[in-house]
Amino acid sequence: MKRYGNITGWGKYVPSRVVTNADLEQTLDTNDEWIVTRTGIRERHIVEAGESTSQISIAAARDALDMAGVHPKDLDLIIVATSSPDYLTPPVSSQVQDGLGAKNVGAFTLVNGCTGFVYALATAQQFISSGACETILIVGAELTSRFVDWNDRETCVLFGDGAGAVVMQATDVPSGVLSFVLGSDGSGAEHLILPGGGAVHPPSHENLDAGLHSVRMNGREVFKFATRVLGKALRQALHQAGLEAEDIDLFIPHQANVRIIDRAARFANLPPEKVFVNIEKYGNTSAASIPIALCEAFEQGRAKIGDTLAFVAFGAGLTWASAVVKITENTQPVPKSWWQGLVSRWFSPNHLVSNSAPQKTPADHTPEAN
Ligand code: UT7
Repeated sequence: MKRYGNITGWGKYVPSRVVTNADLEQTLDTNDEWIVTRTGIRERHIVEAGESTSQISIAAARDALDMAGVHPKDLDLIIVATSSPDYLTPPVSSQVQDGLGAKNVGAFTLVNGCTGFVYALATAQQFISSGACETILIVGAELTSRFVDWNDRETCVLFGDGAGAVVMQATDVPSGVLSFVLGSDGSGAEHLILPGGGAVHPPSHENLDAGLHSVRMNGREVFKFATRVLGKALRQALHQAGLEAEDIDLFIPHQANVRIIDRAARFANLPPEKVFVNIEKYGNTSAASIPIALCEAFEQGRAKIGDTLAFVAFGAGLTWASAVVKITENTQPVPKSWWQGLVSRWFSPNHLVSNSAPQKTPADHTPEAN
């Protein structure tokens, strides 16, 4: 019998601190009008000093696990998609595994920029289809604010912090990732790069002084690349699933630029009412943007159980990824046991942040909230 990986739980965590375009006008040569018309972004959430990628991942994951009725110890695998991990090593996925109390559960980190979540979803589906796993937690989380130069108006205005998570569970009901397309063109690597801190430019005073530790982007080139690949990748995923644009209930794209989203939707013949956009509130949260948008789409009633969704993302690499995903009723028994109430009270994001062991994180370079 064919095995599918249905998405049975989802959750998100965004930091409470909001930085508006007007806030950025105080420290940068920019303005609200430019940012809104060029990108669609009005504000973004930025973590406080002391918060870490593992913490925000755990907060989002707990909501997703709670919704699916899955205890962390019953997970078979944890995949964390991020390009802003707590440390270069150990992998942040192990911090998430430990923080969740998912004792000895296998975990790995998938570093693939903004396409990380869709790559992780396609990967998880393979573990389930093959029979290797029953239940997988997939997290997309970013603290990009720690890796941008807050004096570089061409990059810092675009990004925000946040995390989203989903639980994927095996079922024989057709659901989960019905099709996916993964693509990469490394010849465009220089257009979106964080040059320092890796093996080529290891940490040194010279490299720090040269500003190599911050994200550098050629926005125009990335824009051209995105408009070239996105609509096509979306159409390919639809074709592979044997579906037409009208079969898609909601298109949930990576939230990088509203103009890019509009072009991709038009290319794939998806009308605006079938396109989910929340970039105005969060900016580009990279690997977290699709799972955060998925959660909001359900919260707002734009998505519902039974829907067929289309995801598409692009980003550093340069890479792209699309997937058609069907979400059906959870056929797994959802236990209503003593621990669920406990979990939701004890593990709420606020509780988590205030009670977590202090973690050594870089100093906060982001602008002060008003
Ligand atoms: O997840 C993937 C991450 N990356 C992306 O999604 C980036 C994709 N690219 C984009 O979204 C767009 O290219 C941007 C929003 C980054 C830029 O929009 P654009 O329409 O391509 O603008 P541009 O780069 O052509 O710049 C136009 C002007 C320039 O001034 P000059 O040379 O024409 O005098 C920039 O210096 O806008 C200037 N500019 C700004 N002005 C005010 C650039 N950034 C800003 C800013 N505020 N923040």
